[in-house]
Amino acid sequence: MAVSSAPGKVYLFGEHAVVYGEPAVPCAIEVRARVGVERRTDSKLRIHAEDLSLDGFTVEYGGTADGPPDVDVSESLLTAAMGYVDGAIEQVRDVTGEEDVGFDVTIESDIPLGAGLGSSAAVAVAAIDAGTRELGTTLEVDELAERAYQTEYEVQGGQASRADTFCSATGGAVRVEGDNCQSLESPDLPLVIGFDGGAGDTGELVAGVRSLREEYEFAADTVDAIGDIVRNGETALAAGDLEELGRLMNFNHGLLSALGVSSRSLDSMVWAARDAGAAGAKLTGAGGGGCIVALDPTDETQTALSYTPGCADTFRAELSETGVERLE
Ligand code: PMV
Repeated sequence: MAVSSAPGKVYLFGEHAVVYGEPAVPCAIEVRARVGVERRTDSKLRIHAEDLSLDGFTVEYGGTADGPPDVDVSESLLTAAMGYVDGAIEQVRDVTGEEDVGFDVTIESDIPLGAGLGSSAAVAVAAIDAGTRELGTTLEVDELAERAYQTEYEVQGGQASRADTFCSATGGAVRVEGDNCQSLESPDLPLVIGFDGGAGDTGELVAGVRSLREEYEFAADTVDAIGDIVRNGETALAAGDLEELGRLMNFNHGLLSALGVSSRSLDSMVWAARDAGAAGAKLTGAGGGGCIVALDPTDETQTALSYTPGCADTFRAELSETGVERLE
């Protein structure tokens, strides 16, 4: 059996605007998905998932990965997670040329599903890495990132950004602009996550911003202004200026909120973090529900979030310098 892990991520700046060619800065965080892959003697794909914010679950596909599942999986997020594993195994088969190979796949993840922390990218990266290694091939990180991106692209019906998969494969802070991804120098960031227990519908939220942008020039200007925040954020990151980073995160959240992608629970958590003395706080990812990220070296934000109505979970998540990790 080969086991790999890969980190989740937060957007320090730039989600949504990145869809329109503005730069964005996601950053890998020390919460991980671990995927174990073991070759089977037949061609079946059997997936066992634990801790995916849901109860342990086993799905068995008959014959090939394309076959119908033997177990009825009604939970849509879980189904989506299984889709990513399916897609990742297709990539493994493609890389190795072993079209009929079957696997037992075990997923354990500390990353809430669909909540803006890049859970699907982490699962795809770790699954491709472990699957290829199980068959004796170790991919370069760039190819791993590209294969994981292709997985997301196919599973998400042609809509994916390279941000999550690149960040998860390489670790660290990343600058994304169009198809171009590069690693950035970053200081240690005292990140605190607040999770409302829910998830937003990325497709719907992206469509909402698109129509606002088409209808109002000031909405298009808002998207452009987010790009300006990102450029300032890169300078603040390079200088290790936490106070400025926080101020820019607050500004970024305000503009995302103006574009209609925040929610009551996300706003409550953002304000609780600010009231507790965080340097800044914003939603991360598509929004609508899910997670916020705050910058606070003290324990105050985490304590405040744990008492905030609408916050289901809060944890500290340092920047992860390490992307994919080969555990076994
Ligand atoms: O919620 P996430 O982590 O999948 O991030 C979505 C980011 C968007 O900019 C809203 C969409 C995208 O594809 O870049």
